[in-house]
Amino acid sequence: MNARFVRDVRAFIRCYLGSRDCDIVVGALRLKWFLVFRQGRIDGLKKGGQGSRRAEGVRQEPLTLPPVNPLTEQWFNEKEEFVMTDFVSISGKRFRLAEPSPPNQHHPQLRGRDQELRLIQAAFLGNRAIEDGRPLNVLLTGGAGVGKTALAEEVSRQMGRALYCVQGSEGLIAEELALSARPSDEGIHQIEFVLSGLATAMVTGNICLIDEIGKLKPRTLAMLAPVGDHRRTLYSSLAGVSIPAHPQFRLICTSNTSDFTTSALPEFMVERLSVKIHVDMLPRKTLDLIIQERFSRAGHSAEMFLKCFWEQWLKRYPDQLPSPRQLIQICQLSFSIAALQNRALTERDVEEAIHYANH
Ligand SMILES: Nc1ncnc2c1ncn2[C@@H]1O[C@H](COP(=O)(O)OP(=O)(O)OP(=O)(O)O)[C@@H](O)[C@H]1O
Ligand SMILES: [Mg+2]
Repeated sequence: MNARFVRDVRAFIRCYLGSRDCDIVVGALRLKWFLVFRQGRIDGLKKGGQGSRRAEGVRQEPLTLPPVNPLTEQWFNEKEEFVMTDFVSISGKRFRLAEPSPPNQHHPQLRGRDQELRLIQAAFLGNRAIEDGRPLNVLLTGGAGVGKTALAEEVSRQMGRALYCVQGSEGLIAEELALSARPSDEGIHQIEFVLSGLATAMVTGNICLIDEIGKLKPRTLAMLAPVGDHRRTLYSSLAGVSIPAHPQFRLICTSNTSDFTTSALPEFMVERLSVKIHVDMLPRKTLDLIIQERFSRAGHSAEMFLKCFWEQWLKRYPDQLPSPRQLIQICQLSFSIAALQNRALTERDVEEAIHYANH
């Protein structure tokens, strides 16, 4: 229950009942709210909107939930700070779950990627007709800003699953891929295990996106070998447990390097990322459509931007197309330069934006 709302109700009741009775009534109200929202949340999970919270061989602990903000469906403590509340037990040990990446509230329509989406969905389908018909892992390659993450987000949205992201970097140590340990909030001298995004996606049956997998060190990549093959498990030496994957778990990785066979990725990993999709630059027509949709409120000015943009871009880079991200950013900066001076967009603004927003 919202803390400000509780304060208001308390003040109102105190006027009529005195402070002792007031505490009893507020306590009863809190319990009632807690039960109603807990039931609502459990019903939501049963419907499977965000993937199942139960994994094979993993016991789901009963949740003790703090008050919920009904507007955002996020969980808050008394200080109105966001708190994570979900735990699982694996082999008798208690683990805190990671948070999924927040869904993009604007749901921008993904344009010109039907072929890529179809292939990812086919890879993720699995095939029960054959003996080892488990789903296949996907590797997306392509330059910066072409839409690799956007593709993973769109697939998870279409499948009604949460997306957990792991940012690949040379600094990511092997154990962090499974979990980390930190001082517990529940008592001094206690530590708790926090599952990584990958491990959480595995136990909850959701999708994990490992971004820039080519940047992981060989020792860290070796942890992924049993995740990517028929074993579908992740071993944590820190906690001494094997984390099993829920049947609905899916793995998608990205790499900016298109030539993945000669990149840092060792062969055992390339083999396990069975479906390799190169995400190419989008044609000019599709890029125009993206701008018209994203900047639809600008109306005629969006058309004017596109006209100026292509004239100047092709003069500078005749053999190169911008990535969707580059184009969106240049468009945004052009409009902002004009807005700052309280006037309509000019050719000069677009020229300036190309100069400063393009590396
Ligand atoms: N096909 C598309 N239709 C509409 N918007 C797109 C499309 N592709 C990319 N975008 C938009 O372009 C931006 C960049 O996309 P995204 O972050 O997915 O690129 P990326 O390939 O993951 O980049 P990086 O390699 O830097 O991680 C996002 O705002 C995304 O919504
Ligand atoms: Mg990305």
